[in-house]
This record gives sequence, C-alpha cells and structure tokens, in this order.
Amino acid sequence: MFRDDQLTEEARQVLLDNDRGSYTVPTKGLYPYQWNWDSAFASLGYATNDMNRAWIELESLFSGQWPNGMVPHILFHELSQDYFPNPSDWGAFGGPIPSSGISQPPVAPTVAKILWELDREVGHKRVESLLPAMLKWYQWFMDNRFQEGVIVATHPWESGRDNSPDWDKALSRIHVDAPLDYSRKDTLMVNEEMRPTKEEYDKYYWLVQLGRSTQWFESELKVKSPFRVGDPGLTFIFMRAIKDLIALSLEFGLETTQLEEDYNRLTEGTSYLWNSELEAYAARCTKTGQFADSMSSASFLCWYGGVDSQLMYNHLCRILKDVLFGIPSLDSRSTKFDRSRYWRGPTWAIMNFMIALGLKEYSYSEAEKLFEATKTMIKKGGFAEYFDPFTGDPKGGKHFTWTAAVWLYLAGRF
Ligand code: DGY
Repeated sequence: MFRDDQLTEEARQVLLDNDRGSYTVPTKGLYPYQWNWDSAFASLGYATNDMNRAWIELESLFSGQWPNGMVPHILFHELSQDYFPNPSDWGAFGGPIPSSGISQPPVAPTVAKILWELDREVGHKRVESLLPAMLKWYQWFMDNRFQEGVIVATHPWESGRDNSPDWDKALSRIHVDAPLDYSRKDTLMVNEEMRPTKEEYDKYYWLVQLGRSTQWFESELKVKSPFRVGDPGLTFIFMRAIKDLIALSLEFGLETTQLEEDYNRLTEGTSYLWNSELEAYAARCTKTGQFADSMSSASFLCWYGGVDSQLMYNHLCRILKDVLFGIPSLDSRSTKFDRSRYWRGPTWAIMNFMIALGLKEYSYSEAEKLFEATKTMIKKGGFAEYFDPFTGDPKGGKHFTWTAAVWLYLAGRF
C-alpha cells in the first residue's frame, strides 16, 4: 500500500512524464498520441494544481476538431512508430491535424463545466472561447450518431471500451475473408492476455478500412457499415454533456431550447436500451435489434446521464457485494467475465469515478463507497490502466494519465 501524500506526488509525476506541452498522452509507448476522453481526464487532473494547463489540455483537443464538428478520438500530433493504426492507415484527412476518423465519449464538456465551477474567474474567458466548438460537437453527435433515440458507436474504439462484450454480436456479423496486412504494436508492450484478441483486432482494422474507403463520408458509412450499436456509455455520457452544456450556455445567455429538447428525446430514447430480460440497460445493435447478453459498467452510467433506476440500483448493490474495487467492466456473473482482459472484466478508475459522480447526485450512499474503493484500488495497484476487480492488482499499461488524474481529483476531494 502506498501513502496518500506519496501517491499524490507520484500522480503529478505521471502527468508531467506524459505531458507533451499542450496535450497529454495516456501513457508513453502504448498510446503515444492525444486520445479524446483520456485528455478530458488529464485536464481534470491538472485542475487540481494548474488551472491554466487544465484549460490548455481541452483547447488542444478542440484544435483538432473537423469542420463538420467531429472531435476525433485520436489526434496524431507527432508521428510515432509505437502505435498501429497510424494516420496513413486511417486515411482520415477531414481536420486540421492528422487524426482518426471516429470520435469518442464526450467527457470534455463535463470537465469544462467542472473547471469553470472550480475557478469562475479563469473559467469564464476560457469557456467563452471553447463553448461554440463544444456546441458544434454536440450538434455533430445529433446529426451523425443519434439513431433509435440513442447514441450509436460506429466502431468499438468510438465507445472507448474496445473489446467489451457489448460489441460481440455486431462484430460477429463481420467476416474478414482475406488476411489483413498489419502488425499490432500493443501486444509488444502489454501481455496479450490483457488485450483484445487477434480476431477482434482484424475486425477493428476491417472497420477502419471500410471508413477509409468512404473517405469517412458519414452518410455513405451509415449505409455500408454493419456496425452501428446503441451504446449506453456514449448515450449517458452524451446526455451528461448536454446537461453541462445547458448550464454553460445559460452563463452566457445563450438559447438552450434545442439542447433541452434533445436531452428529453434522449431520455425517452433510453427505453431502446432497456433489456427487459436482463432488467437492465444494455448495448443494442441497431441493424438487428439484438441486445448484448450482459451488462457492462457503461450501463451504470445512467445516473451520470440523469436517469435513475431502482432495478439498476439493485444490480449495482449485487455487483458491489461480489467484487471489492467497484464496478467491473462486465457483470461479474456473466459467463464472458474475464478479470484480466481489458474491457471484459477489469475495473477502470474512470468508470468508477463517473458512476460515483452520478450516484452522488441521487444521494446514494454507494457513491462514497465507490470513491473510497477507487482510492484503495489505486493505493494497492498504483497508476495502472485497469485493475483486477477482486484483488486490485494492476493490469494493462502502467503510468497511466487518467488513473493518476482520478487519484488527484479524489485525493483533493473537490
Ligand atoms: C487502442 O489502440 O487500443 C485504443 O483503445 C484505440 O482507441
């Protein structure tokens, strides 16, 4: 076990080591670029001692926004040989900075609101210049990802939860006939038992190639791609972003009617994700209407998005009794549960954190338990990418920005 003050010092060091000046990499080597939702958490970490740097992080993320409003999931500021796929593999040239062709969960508007609340004097000016870009991103989601009343993921990477069983059914409809010519870099750095399988990677790359063949033209992709899955993660995180954009817009006297209407449409739309067999929110393929067989940690973001549910609360209490360190990325009773493999079982500090923020707003006492469990997990396992839900052992990459950021925020208890 590490001591709190020692960990806080180390967490700052993790951020410093991963800082590339105006943006922060998730971790050196494994993820050498700016990732969208990782960057939002990095900003939260900086906010605990350097508000200017916190805003710069968000500003650099939006500097890669495409003219159509999309904020890419990866910004390739400086080419690295450590990562696959690189800009030429993506062939996505719609923005000012080489990037991927998909987006990622919009945590950034929520972090912007937190930053603004922490320091309104500094925040006012920074929000003023960032708000139009954030609103443009929201509109991009509504125009391109709003389907069946919810937000769809067009690639497992867009959800941020790459190999979650949430995508298994939709991916099973993709058949990669000819061998694909690429070599993975991730498994050179992390034990392959903690990473997605080759079959999954083939399909991730197959989807990248499909996007590239349409030059990332959204309306063409919508017709051609077999992968469009209603995602509880993207949906609830987007709903939360809208709520926070409403609060920020009001500060500047902006009209919020459209935001409110869209929020209400999404609230009603969440019924599309309600799996009455599981009695829970679950991912759902819009091509076939099929639900995922089990709940992932994203289902528990309902409170974060502003939706209360007694049945979800019952699942939450059951799972919290089963495991020690918060909400694992897959229901611990699922037959697919794998305590070490990325998004198929391990616990992630950022998911615990967002779930707890939501629970806190509904005054559930489990919020505090989850914050504490997250801290204990980090005290045991350090700044790992993810953790074993039963033992708190570190898994995946090390020296991780977002785990350090969650620690800093929780240790400071803002
Ligand atoms: C990866 O490369 O594993 C990333 O999660 C893609 O975003």
